Amino acid sequence: MKSALRRCNRGRSLVAAIVILLVLGAAGGAFAWYKFFREEPQPEWITSDPDMRFKYGSIGAERDAGIPYWIFYVLPRVFPDLLPGPGGYASFGVVWEEGQELPAGFSKKVVGFPRVANNCASCHVASYRTAPDAAPVFVPTGPNHTLNLWAFFRFLVDCAKDPRFNADNLMAEIRLVTDMSFIDRAIYRFLIIPITKKTLLEREQQFAWLYRADFPPWGRGRDDAMNLTKYFMIRWPMDDSLGPTDMPSIWNLGKYKPEQGMRMNFAGDSHDPFSVIIDSALGLLGAPPKDNEEFLGHVRWIQDYVSAKRAPQYPFPVDTALAARGKAVFDATCAACHASARTGTIVPLAEVGTSRDRIDTWNEKAAREANKVVRDMGIERPGLVEAPLTGYVAAFLDGIWLRAPYLHNGSVPTLRDLLEPAALRPRTFRRGYDVYDPAKVGFVTEGAEAERIGTLHDVAQKGGGNQGHEFGTTLPADDKDALLEYLKTL
Ligand code: HEC
Ligand code: HEC
Repeated sequence: MKSALRRCNRGRSLVAAIVILLVLGAAGGAFAWYKFFREEPQPEWITSDPDMRFKYGSIGAERDAGIPYWIFYVLPRVFPDLLPGPGGYASFGVVWEEGQELPAGFSKKVVGFPRVANNCASCHVASYRTAPDAAPVFVPTGPNHTLNLWAFFRFLVDCAKDPRFNADNLMAEIRLVTDMSFIDRAIYRFLIIPITKKTLLEREQQFAWLYRADFPPWGRGRDDAMNLTKYFMIRWPMDDSLGPTDMPSIWNLGKYKPEQGMRMNFAGDSHDPFSVIIDSALGLLGAPPKDNEEFLGHVRWIQDYVSAKRAPQYPFPVDTALAARGKAVFDATCAACHASARTGTIVPLAEVGTSRDRIDTWNEKAAREANKVVRDMGIERPGLVEAPLTGYVAAFLDGIWLRAPYLHNGSVPTLRDLLEPAALRPRTFRRGYDVYDPAKVGFVTEGAEAERIGTLHDVAQKGGGNQGHEFGTTLPADDKDALLEYLKTL
């Protein structure tokens, strides 16, 4: 009897202990959820305006690929020596609008704590100036020809590898710029900073080809996109390919008609806009989406947005009579590929004759594996083209004036240079300076400022060849002038 009572008492205290633990556990769970996972909507100035949403809106990348806001904030202050030049993040050539806390293409969102991630605008917003003393003009969906993505990727890894990346140094810098509660400081010190360091270091091996001494830097405005897909999405071992391409414009995407055999990306690797947007967004998320419906909601919004955008008008005067003469030259020399049923379809490499390095960064097997990765996430899309790559897509030329430098690898600085045979095109030039040159139709590539800001492009380096596409190069000089005038109007 006594022992039964004792057993009963013991049973009761056990229940009480479990109840207390559960309550504490639930509180702890709620606390952990609040501090690490709760999602707060972005402010309305971002979500209610389509251009702002494209430039600063979250596509859901903060959760797995985000960098804690305060670490992102202090990295250039702690590691100024690892930047490519003075000026903090601006030294990477990010597009930075006056009055904005972050550059275009960088989204800030609270997932437990404020985090910074990237969206499409980091590579797909153009900026230019009509004169050195003019204000910059920003064009969402235009190519970011100033961004030194190669240097940005390396900076993050180099910081994480540096012994100075530790809680003492980072917290000292963070405390100079913000007041945190005792608990938040502890969370940053003991969890967020060490985890961020580890996460950034995990990328080092996948970025190994950025560190190869026998590969040139990509330079401003270029991105080795298919190698990124290969090493991050399907996690292939490093091979010897290097194919950095120009950032493309993504305005007016509705012009692509997949059912007419048109293909996306420079080498025609992908079937349709929907697939490219999904794959680009997955690359930014760095992990399967938390919720496929929410993810596809972002994708559909982006697709509507970029389909409705039109290429911007040429910002300098155009001689309309000359342009009208140029249209006749264009129709006779260029339209067979650039304004016909061939436009948007693949032209064999032997016919266009440009550098093949980009083609060698991707293949049919990679396409099959990448398609499987996406299918396994439960996402259905036409996807990447499961066939060997054979050439380059005959580009649509809308807004071509803002897409300098030219060809898929950005190896020809201006449209005037493109109308010269390869042997007479510049062999070295600076890329990534934003002042426009209406005489040559492209960006300024020479002079003190272009040299200070721009990175060197050398056509002799791997992935940089400027050969091929010699169409129109034998035209008489006045026909070339007229053609150039017409190209400004597209
Ligand atoms: C890190 C830079 C970067 C980011 C971020 C990025 N892109 Fe791109 N995008 C590129 C590059 C470079 C290419 C060309 C790739 C190639 O063909 O080699 C490209 C190609 C494309 C194309 C094909 C264009 C054409 O005419 O064939 C579309 C569409 C596109 N991107 C949309 C997006 C969208 C939407 C996002 C955001 C979800 C995004 N991109 C994010 C760099 C980027
Ligand atoms: C036989 C087909 C063909 C003809 C003819 C042709 N092109 Fe092209 N064009 C292409 C292909 C293919 C590309 C993509 C090549 C690459 O990027 O490697 C291209 C690329 C371009 C680009 C660069 C696009 C960019 O985004 O950088 C411009 C500009 C251009 N062509 C203008 C012209 C002009 C002007 C003419 C007439 C004088 C012309 N093309 C004639 C097939 C053609």
